[in-house]
Amino acid sequence: MTAKTEQSRILVVDDEPSNIWPLIKDLEREFEVLCATGGEQALQIAKAAKKPDLILLDILMPGMDGYEVCARLKANADTRDIPVIFITALGQEMDEARSLNLGAVDFIAKPFSLPVVEARIKAALRLKEEMDQRILLTRKLEELNQQLEAHVREKTAALKQAHTDLLASEKKYRDIYENAPEGIYQVSLEGRFLSANPAMARILGYASPEELLMHLTDVRHQLYTHPPERDVLLSLLEKKVAIVGHELQFYKKDGQVIWISISARVVRDEAGRPLYLEGFLTDISDRKRLEEQLRQAAKMEAVGNLVGGVAHDFNNLMTAVIGYSDLLLMRLPTDDSSRSAIELIKRAGESAAALTQRLLAFSRKQVLQPLVLDLNAVVANTEKMLQRMIGEDIELVAQCDPALHPILADPGQMEQVIMNLAVNARDAMPRGGKLMIETTNTVLDEAYCRQRLGVQPGRYVMLSVSDTGIGMDAETRSHLFEPFFTTKPRDRGTGLGLATVYGIVKQSRGHIWVYSEAGKGSTFKVYLPAAARQAEQAAQPHKAVQAYRGSETIMVAEDNAGVRELAVAILKAHGYTVLAEDSGQSCLHRLLDRHGPVDLLLTDVVMPDLNGKDLARRAVERFPNLKVLFMSGYTDNVIVRHGVLEKGVHFIQKPFAMEALAAKVREVLDG
Ligand SMILES: Nc1ncnc2c1ncn2[C@@H]1O[C@H](COP(=O)(O)OP(=O)(O)OP(=O)(O)O)[C@@H](O)[C@H]1O
Ligand SMILES: [Mg+2]
Repeated sequence: MTAKTEQSRILVVDDEPSNIWPLIKDLEREFEVLCATGGEQALQIAKAAKKPDLILLDILMPGMDGYEVCARLKANADTRDIPVIFITALGQEMDEARSLNLGAVDFIAKPFSLPVVEARIKAALRLKEEMDQRILLTRKLEELNQQLEAHVREKTAALKQAHTDLLASEKKYRDIYENAPEGIYQVSLEGRFLSANPAMARILGYASPEELLMHLTDVRHQLYTHPPERDVLLSLLEKKVAIVGHELQFYKKDGQVIWISISARVVRDEAGRPLYLEGFLTDISDRKRLEEQLRQAAKMEAVGNLVGGVAHDFNNLMTAVIGYSDLLLMRLPTDDSSRSAIELIKRAGESAAALTQRLLAFSRKQVLQPLVLDLNAVVANTEKMLQRMIGEDIELVAQCDPALHPILADPGQMEQVIMNLAVNARDAMPRGGKLMIETTNTVLDEAYCRQRLGVQPGRYVMLSVSDTGIGMDAETRSHLFEPFFTTKPRDRGTGLGLATVYGIVKQSRGHIWVYSEAGKGSTFKVYLPAAARQAEQAAQPHKAVQAYRGSETIMVAEDNAGVRELAVAILKAHGYTVLAEDSGQSCLHRLLDRHGPVDLLLTDVVMPDLNGKDLARRAVERFPNLKVLFMSGYTDNVIVRHGVLEKGVHFIQKPFAMEALAAKVREVLDG
């Protein structure tokens, strides 16, 4: 639509155009003038592509009058906006109200002056143009409005998405926070908890994070077992960016002490001023316990090796001391004045040998003769002896599980374990008390074994020895099983009791734990693996034979000259014919070359060239009736595996006393 008046098109509708000819002429000077002589034609032109900008409409026309034309123009959306001015011929009736109601913008009645008509047409065109402008503006506005609405919709959708994403991400982090196995916390510089996750509450023994937040208002005193440690941490945090894996001890809600590892950092405001601390906390008590057990086990292993090595050499020396004392005593007349001195030497040698025996027990280098046995029977055996030993001020209570599993152990050694523990208990109760011995079946499960180094899950028999005595502090507990660790006066304790117990228990594939606190008594618990078979009747010790003499031929193989000569001397003194060699090889050659009989081979187990077991095997091939007696101060070797003697093998532990050797030789020859 054009806005310029010069180009505006005027449609003049009149059945007699000649009547208004001057007007048309006048208009044509400024407008493009179209003419229609009837209503139908007028409507056609109005609907054409090039619409008129204004219609001058005569009222009275044959066929369709001006009112109807106007009504139809206004009824059609295409033509509705074209302004209509009614114009009347001279003498025609003009219904002004009807015209306006039909939507005309003006009406002109004759006679009219041309300038007035022109002015009124222009006014109508201006009005139309203004209307058009307004409509245009309105459309523009609507368009803008729509754009704005679309934009708002888009923005709203984006915002909604962002919100959903935020919720999802928040849930992700909340899940981590809620379900993390580590404690996650925020704590004020003054020591009040600001936030804590469920793991944090669990680790510190609270039912919920809320309970923890309410309770822990002063961590320095409520958590730290050594409050100054918090100051150290704070000062470190002041200087460093963060603390990672710092290990220390905390109190739980119930007062129990646990080891924890914390990682923390200081959160600061924009000016760098510290606001609060935040970080992670892990309970490392289990790991610490295992580390401690590992340290203890390694220490015991090292001490055991050292002690075992010394004891082994010592055994050979003592064998000579005791043996030669015996020989001398045999040769000297009964009234000889040196006898008492030699007897003292022998007794000292025996004490030293007994000591060595305990050291060997500790270092698990003692020869065990395990049987499938009923531990209750061992307890019953020791009970009488114990009763006498502990005196009247101490009440002895034994509680034995009648359905106790059998165990595989050396009965003599088990007695030793009970005695040593009971004697300690007695010493811990100088003013009397109660000594309890208990046996029971128990199962150590995976969970338990994870807490205890080197324990295999399975069925065990537990022996516990408890007292109501003075108890022990942590320092004593940490050295308890070490040889020569004692808190008793010099003449009262050697510190070998528990070392022996430890060695025997370990050698029997068992475990021993102690539960004790100063002033609160002690409980020792010994766990021994349950054995599959039924308990055997413990072998009765051999009846002492008075005369261990004989006339058979015995071959001795021993690389240690002292021991060899002693054995030869003892055996000769008891009537035997004795041959001796200082190595396995030479002994074997001598046996193979020999024509006369040899009844018994007494051989050391560990020899440099040919060991005792191989020597014995080859000698027996040659002389099937040859008896063999092994001797050793050392237990882990080819005939004694892990301290356990193979069945049917004869063995004598060094050092041996003269009588013991003579008795053993006789037993083997007669067996
Ligand atoms: N039941 C107990 N109550 C309190 N302390 C104990 C108990 N058992 C052992 N102890 C402590 O452990 C230390 C070592 O005990 P152990 O049996 O090894 O040596 P001992 O009794 O001192 O000497 P020994 O047993 O060689 O005569 C004891 O000195 C004592 O301090
Ligand atoms: Mg003791």
